[in-house]
Amino acid sequence: MQNLSWWKHAVVYQVYPRSFQDSNSDGIGDLNGIRERLDYFVELGIDALWISPIYPSPMADFGYDVADYCGIDPIFGTMTDFDRLLDEAHRRGLRVLLDFVPNHTSDQHPWFLESRSSRDNPKRDWYLWRDQPNNWQSHFGGSAWEFDNRTGQYYLHEFLKEQPDLNWRNPEVKAAMFDALRFWLRKGVDGFRVDVMWLMIKDDQFRDNPPNPAYELGMSSRARFLPVYDADRPEVHALVAEMRGVLEEFGDRVLIGEIYLPVHQLMQYYGPELRGANLPFNFQLLQCPWTADDLAGAIRDYMAHLPTGAWPNWVLGNHDKPRIASRIGPDRARAAALLLFSLPGTLTVYYGEELGLQDVPIPHDLVQDPAEKRQPGIGMGRDPERTPMPWDNSPACGFTRGTPWLPLGEVNPSLNVEQSRHDPHSMLALYRRLLQLRRAEPVLVAGALTQLSSQDGVLRFLRSDGKKRLAAVVNLAGEERSIPVEDGAIALATDLPRAGEQVHQSVVLKPAEAMVIAIHD
Ligand code: GLC
Ligand code: CA
Repeated sequence: MQNLSWWKHAVVYQVYPRSFQDSNSDGIGDLNGIRERLDYFVELGIDALWISPIYPSPMADFGYDVADYCGIDPIFGTMTDFDRLLDEAHRRGLRVLLDFVPNHTSDQHPWFLESRSSRDNPKRDWYLWRDQPNNWQSHFGGSAWEFDNRTGQYYLHEFLKEQPDLNWRNPEVKAAMFDALRFWLRKGVDGFRVDVMWLMIKDDQFRDNPPNPAYELGMSSRARFLPVYDADRPEVHALVAEMRGVLEEFGDRVLIGEIYLPVHQLMQYYGPELRGANLPFNFQLLQCPWTADDLAGAIRDYMAHLPTGAWPNWVLGNHDKPRIASRIGPDRARAAALLLFSLPGTLTVYYGEELGLQDVPIPHDLVQDPAEKRQPGIGMGRDPERTPMPWDNSPACGFTRGTPWLPLGEVNPSLNVEQSRHDPHSMLALYRRLLQLRRAEPVLVAGALTQLSSQDGVLRFLRSDGKKRLAAVVNLAGEERSIPVEDGAIALATDLPRAGEQVHQSVVLKPAEAMVIAIHD
């Protein structure tokens, strides 16, 4: 592993800063809160933090509406707090990644205020202004075009009208945004997760999207059309390569792209000759039905499409999707964790996954997410997976001494860090063991993945290199299964005390049980 770039054998931990740790009792998590918890990451054994946006923002989309790419929002702290966090993280050997939001700014960004002030303002062309709207729809519902009275034109916003889209065809925009990247890279930030990378460039003729034949009533308004002209345009790849070039000015940094696309399109984001994103996020496990057949298919499909030399990555959850423990249930979430840690490449863990946190239902009057407010009831609400991290048994679970910005709810009664630490069977205990195992067994990170199969509800595959063979077995059948295996010893199982057990010819797995078996030579 010594000769691999750090990010290739890293486990990244996503912090949603509003919900991680509040340090000043205003009910909202902040940078000093994250800094106070740095030892938690060390104890857990992760390698890098990715912090969702912390820049000055009116918070129309909780920081994904940036008003200054080179500042810190006072809600989260000051630049001094950030510098201190970065420094103390680095001293512990932890890398820090920031979220970069290139597709759109806040409508309060000085660039947009200038752009909208007159048709001949020098920044007019920094955004996408048209006399007439086309049929493009916002990801948050309704037309993606907003009429601006003052200058009598429409501007494009792929998300909220408070999030106008930048014009990346304008070289000045590119230069200004790349300088923002350099600002953070110079400070020592280790890389970026790039927001909606596949949307950055749109059709230069603004052609209408074709209708979606699979559209049904009750779907989002965006689903009425196929995203042919406002997403995944061919020009995006040159742009991603340029962005990568900016990171390379600073040495070994990592560029991760948020991309929701079918696998063959996703893979294009590695770029020609792998000069694009280091890691186009792989959301296969986020979107796959949780059966052995579907999972085997998704893993096979991903691995088969991976370009030669490209580095794989895997994700179970993020701040936009229901939590894994809610999607598939708490028992199977343990098996999902073991599956994740048995797969090759870089892993990303969403805060709270290591506790087995579930979505918290949010009463109507407490809804915060703009996506839910704009299209209530169609399941776009993202508050449930963004609720505060429970640290202990105190009121508000040690997250804040004030009133938390989202409720901690009743669904995770005994799930908190303190209690999990003392429970040898907790999800936290499993995560710590998984992280140790991955560090101890380089074959899990970089070895070949072969013999992938699903049979009778059991998913299995082999990880091997010249030195070692590890078999991963996951029982998704809903009943006990006896599985033939080569002789070996259980390296780790979701049922933690089974580690060390010798297996001879076959092994019995309870429902939702999963294990990694070290095959004897
Ligand atoms: C990404 C973010 C999401 C945000 C959207 C608009 O999908 O993950 O939270 O709302 O982009 O910036
Ligand atoms: Ca705070």
